[in-house]
Amino acid sequence: MCGIVGYIGKRNSLPILVDGLKRLEYRGYDSAGVAVINSATEVKLFKKAGKVKEIETQIPVNEFEGNVGIGHTRWATHGEPNDNNAHPHTCMNEKFYLVHNGIIENYKTIKKKLASEGYVFHTDTDTEILVNLIAFNYKKHKNNFEVAVRLSLCEVDGTYGIACLCIEDPGKIIVARKGSPLMFGVGQDEIIVSSDASAIIAHTKNVIYLEDGEYAVLRRNGIKLKTIDDEDIHREVQEIEYDLDMIEKSGYDHFMLKEICEQPDIVQNTYRGRIKFETGEVKLGGLTNIKEKILNAKRFIITACGTAWHAGLVGEYMLEQYCRIPTEVEYASEFRYRNPIIRQDDVVILVSQSGETADTLAAMREAKKHGATTLGLVNVVGSTIAREVDAGTYIHAGPEIGVASTKAFTCQLMSLILLTMMIAKEKGTIDDEELKKIGAEIELLPYKMKQLIDKKDYFKYIAEEFKDAKNFLYLGRGLNFPVALEGALKLKEISYIHAEGYPAAEMKHGPIALIDENMPVVFIATKDGTYDKVISNIEEVRARKGKIITIATEDDDNIADYSDYVLRVPKTHEILQPIVNSIPLQFLSYYIATARGCNVDQPRNLAKSVTVE
Ligand code: M6R
Repeated sequence: MCGIVGYIGKRNSLPILVDGLKRLEYRGYDSAGVAVINSATEVKLFKKAGKVKEIETQIPVNEFEGNVGIGHTRWATHGEPNDNNAHPHTCMNEKFYLVHNGIIENYKTIKKKLASEGYVFHTDTDTEILVNLIAFNYKKHKNNFEVAVRLSLCEVDGTYGIACLCIEDPGKIIVARKGSPLMFGVGQDEIIVSSDASAIIAHTKNVIYLEDGEYAVLRRNGIKLKTIDDEDIHREVQEIEYDLDMIEKSGYDHFMLKEICEQPDIVQNTYRGRIKFETGEVKLGGLTNIKEKILNAKRFIITACGTAWHAGLVGEYMLEQYCRIPTEVEYASEFRYRNPIIRQDDVVILVSQSGETADTLAAMREAKKHGATTLGLVNVVGSTIAREVDAGTYIHAGPEIGVASTKAFTCQLMSLILLTMMIAKEKGTIDDEELKKIGAEIELLPYKMKQLIDKKDYFKYIAEEFKDAKNFLYLGRGLNFPVALEGALKLKEISYIHAEGYPAAEMKHGPIALIDENMPVVFIATKDGTYDKVISNIEEVRARKGKIITIATEDDDNIADYSDYVLRVPKTHEILQPIVNSIPLQFLSYYIATARGCNVDQPRNLAKSVTVE
């Protein structure tokens, strides 16, 4: 939700900032902007509504040179996405320039106070209030940039990741964080600030993560790290784990396509070194310190948002089926606001790709407040949820740039499978033969997933047939009900076609009224205990002339009789089938969206990580 970038060093900052903005654009793309200071302390401010690509040629990269600068890509919260509300924002006397990710909740109170001091405002943003507050405190505290920023931050409620420039103190960038991620790369005589590693990795792998309640004064060759309460901090430099090619498209048309296609390799990263295929025994080192709590848990509560919530629903089926532990799945956004009953012997599992989703973070803190044990299944290393949970296991999907989550979903499923296997073995709720079968199938899984990637042209052909549909229904039962939900979410978020996911048997309680010859219905009908029932549901749709697309296993000789189109998938153990079944659905939505000319990597109104409530 908004991307922040900054540069201070010897090089011309503008090209570095623009490159950083492009890499961070998945976080928000309503507008973009930069502010750069040159050696004569002149400032160039450029900001505009639109995506970086659309406005790039207007950014004065070749006309202005400055070694210090900040930039921002916006996902609008306060004020519509227009040029005026774009960041960076400046204060009334134009001494300060600020980029901000987050929400200043008490901005109205501060605005009133500043207005009474004669300050006037020109935008609808909370950020403009903060930059003016900095200017106000600067004047009040003997023109001290650092003190002005620190004391201003002490006055604000809400969340922020900020980077601030002062034209009277141009050799510094001051950055601070509370609730919105911020880090900086430490290069040779230069520092690159960013919301995440993607804007840094091309320059250095050495980074320092800022924690909540901290700020840093960055000079070309010096860093001062402090808390907002003015205490000194020392923090070691860490090394980023991935390489530049992991955040490039590498010849694919879109990040989403790349991320779908790399799943056979990526899913191996989730289980590599954690499982013995021959026995199905699993070791999750990150959970050692809470293992007893997990094994003695009276209940699991899985809480997450969006795609991660769908993964959680699959997790519920698996944990109850194989571990016999009652499991509930909660939307993180609802969890904390409904005064939930959380007990000390509950284990609350937080599933999140970004590890920064505000609702999931709040749910985690709520769980901790009640003394429950928290367990994170997170992708982004060093993210807030990853750092704050009692213990966790990274899903190792690598950077996911496409806004629509694909590989993170399958890796979340794989993490939940590993967790289930580990608990079931320890509790003796699964027999060794069954565990062995799962282990053997996990070893084969990448090959089976690869077979589906090789069939992408067929999925494209089906997508062409349905690109003009106005609505879609996705139906599945058991483990495949969440797969149906995820298929529908993928389609609606990138193609803007209305789509609903339902348990197949629920269709007759309402959605069946929607069915006519114009309604495509995707059935996830791979062979499992509910197969015959699903076939009956297919019959019900056929009787009403709905168009039937089935996801079916290769050994299913009958399914073609019931379907207009069959998308064949390899058969695997039922616990792994949701991973396999998701791939054709991802392709279907990708190719429908591209056939409709949609920007799949940057769908309208969405942002990759939702760091506001
Ligand atoms: O980073 P998280 O996994 O916590 O994000 C949760 C949702 O915002 C995310 O899954 C969202 O629904 C995606 N756009 C789905 O493709």
